[in-house]
Amino acid sequence: MQINELKEEFRMLYGSGEIRTFTSPGRVNLIGEHIDYNGGYVLPCALGFGTYACARKRNDRKINFASTNFHLKVEVDIDEIKFSESDEWANYPKGVIVEIMKKGYKISGMDILVSGNIPNGAGLSSSASLEMLMAVIIDNLFNEGKLDRIELVKLCQRAENTFVGVNCGIMDQFAIGMGKQNKAILLDCNTLKYNYCNVDLKDNCLVILDTNKRRALNESKYNERRAECEEALRILQTQKQINALCELSIEEFNEMEKLIKEDNARKRAKHAVYENERTKEAYKYLNEGKIEKFGKLLAASHNSLRDLYEVSGKELDTIVDEALKAKGCLGARMTGAGFGGCAIAIVKKAKLDNFIDIVRENYKSKIGYEPSFYLSGIGDGTEEIYS
Ligand code: GLA
Repeated sequence: MQINELKEEFRMLYGSGEIRTFTSPGRVNLIGEHIDYNGGYVLPCALGFGTYACARKRNDRKINFASTNFHLKVEVDIDEIKFSESDEWANYPKGVIVEIMKKGYKISGMDILVSGNIPNGAGLSSSASLEMLMAVIIDNLFNEGKLDRIELVKLCQRAENTFVGVNCGIMDQFAIGMGKQNKAILLDCNTLKYNYCNVDLKDNCLVILDTNKRRALNESKYNERRAECEEALRILQTQKQINALCELSIEEFNEMEKLIKEDNARKRAKHAVYENERTKEAYKYLNEGKIEKFGKLLAASHNSLRDLYEVSGKELDTIVDEALKAKGCLGARMTGAGFGGCAIAIVKKAKLDNFIDIVRENYKSKIGYEPSFYLSGIGDGTEEIYS
């Protein structure tokens, strides 16, 4: 939906007057999967599409939420916000408001209309996009855009952890809040130090392959994987002073892994340590323009997520296999939490049309329905639109 149409719909809902407009991207993670909560490095980027909003201050303490994607409208009093299953999508912005208030930032009543074009449950972070959108609206409407961006990122993660109940790491909110056009972010999730890196894929492009198998993060095994990693960490801590699994080098881990008797916990920890190394290497290759080597690491990451971390699944494995078999593909892997959702592939531009046709056909014949393909550029983080 165009911003002008969204404004028109906003006027129809809430009447005429000043309207402020905002945009917040989705994200893909290039590599560094399931290690943000293990203190590792991740390499995500913001997408060129996302969630949009029109917003206006009110003179009372009421917030009206509406969306062009869902029929459900929700009205809340700022001072009485509670989680409610029946408020569905509005729980994400409600959680952000609760965290904003805990920090003592300014806020008052608002009318809000959002519109998103990130498919839900596709692993492209529609929820973090919505959270950051809410945080930046409040920043710009009531706090003169002066709030510290990384504080907002952390606060949105807390909203998802404590209000919505998904124990996610910091990656999604960070990528969405801090994204820059044509750049990936190498983020050290232990210290939150970060570096931007040009994504110059030369004569290749980044393709997002959506399995069209939807997943709900809060129903998935996400929290279980975190618990298994915590268990492995607890055991390793009896031998070495570490705060996170990704503080270990591969050599250190190989020496210590026998301490973890339980197979699953050992496999999860191994993935975390090796994936962290792969991410650092991938960042180096991307900077050096060694795209073939970069692509190989993507494929290795997928194998580890499939075999050691066990967060892939029939649909993701099929789409990645088919992508890797197609001509002109330099690498492919699942992206995001897994169990469905999207994969990414690096593909020669000259072979792109053929790549899409072949993967579509082969995936459909194995899975029974078609995948979708998105050729999104890498966009900027959440911001107000001035036009
Ligand atoms: C989800 C979480 C992130 C991260 C990824 C897996 O997207 O929200 O914090 O853990 O899964 O890398």
